[in-house]
Amino acid sequence: MKRSGRVRVQAAAGTEGPDLSVTVNGLKLPNPFVIASGPPGTNYTVMKRAFDEGWGAVIAKTVSLDSSKVVNVTPRYAKLKALAASGTKAEVIGWENIELISDRPFETMLAELKQLKEEYPDRILIASIMEEYNRNSWEEIIERVEATGVDALEINFSCPHGMPERKMGAAMGQDCVLLDEVCGWINAKASVPVWAKMTPNITDITHPARTALRAGCEGIAAINTIMSVMGINLDTLRPEPCVEGYSTPGGYSSKAVRPIALAKVMSIAQMMKAEFPSSSNLSLSGIGGVETGNDAAEFILLGANTVQVCTGVMLHGYGHVKSLCTELQAFMSKHGFTSIEDFRGASLDYFTTHADLVKRQREAIEKKQKVRKGLASDKDWTGEGFVKETETMVSN
Ligand SMILES: Cc1cc2nc3c(=O)[nH]c(=O)nc-3n(C[C@H](O)[C@H](O)[C@H](O)COP(=O)(O)O)c2cc1C
Repeated sequence: MKRSGRVRVQAAAGTEGPDLSVTVNGLKLPNPFVIASGPPGTNYTVMKRAFDEGWGAVIAKTVSLDSSKVVNVTPRYAKLKALAASGTKAEVIGWENIELISDRPFETMLAELKQLKEEYPDRILIASIMEEYNRNSWEEIIERVEATGVDALEINFSCPHGMPERKMGAAMGQDCVLLDEVCGWINAKASVPVWAKMTPNITDITHPARTALRAGCEGIAAINTIMSVMGINLDTLRPEPCVEGYSTPGGYSSKAVRPIALAKVMSIAQMMKAEFPSSSNLSLSGIGGVETGNDAAEFILLGANTVQVCTGVMLHGYGHVKSLCTELQAFMSKHGFTSIEDFRGASLDYFTTHADLVKRQREAIEKKQKVRKGLASDKDWTGEGFVKETETMVSN
């Protein structure tokens, strides 16, 4: 039986001004800003820093049972920069990584998660896990990770590179039959809330999201990185990031992916609203290119309960959560919103089909033409409304 999260409140960033706190799957976060799984949650020291700076929750770097199978290379990142105006620093707009899940020993990560929960019992700590297509392995990793006291599990069904041969990460998240079976194992075993993290590298992201929710997951997190090739060095003719002269496609993140992430989150939120209307305890975590409070507001307007940040932390540091909170509060004050629920999902209803846009536009034009033209024909004059009818045809 799953326990729903314990309700906790603590001082963190954004405690003054409009209320930023959110409750997801029974877990109370002081603000919706969550450290996404990746380098910003890679060890005790950095996760502690995230709590100290006031992040709403921390998701640790993905772990698996056997880290000896995880072998990273360096360099493993490459940046896409916008053209800089003279005298200014080029802005990073895109980021590719070929980093795998955590290469640190599983036992070490467990000890660090446990220590963090002991030192920060009132903060929300989420473990990210990934395993092979093997029920025993999933049961073992869930049991051992839960023993550390973490508040929830995020399942990495979405890592785009590395280990597809072991059917891990995106290889599992792209196959709904496999996903259904594995989510069934996970939810039968887990006693804390489970979020399924989705890959955008699939034709329709609502298919795996629906599968995970039907199989008992309490939340969806989207998106992981987008399959990418950062570029080719035109002097050496070698691709980036370049390791011993060679490269491999990697995962794309940062600002440039935000419009894609918003579209994926929008379609998942619409699916959840249409197909799981009475499941108010289900949650959605938006991820991809968040660097400002306004970016976060957009994800929340599309239905996200929380917003995760990975590359933004790598570029701006942990203290950035304070400006994220201040900017989100400024947006809320401007519109008179006093809580996140006041505006969550408010923009979702303004998406429709292209055919409906055509219909709406045709109707709007017809309406305008009627107003502009006044009477269509002299036969339409009436004695009653004569003065008003005259006015409709006056230009000044
Ligand atoms: C260097 C790097 C490593 C990452 N490692 C993981 C990981 O171990 N597990 C995971 O679920 N996502 C991982 N991600 C994906 C991020 O959590 C996030 O989904 C993605 O980067 C998009 O968000 P962003 O634009 O805020 O970075 C990683 C991303 C980067 C850039």
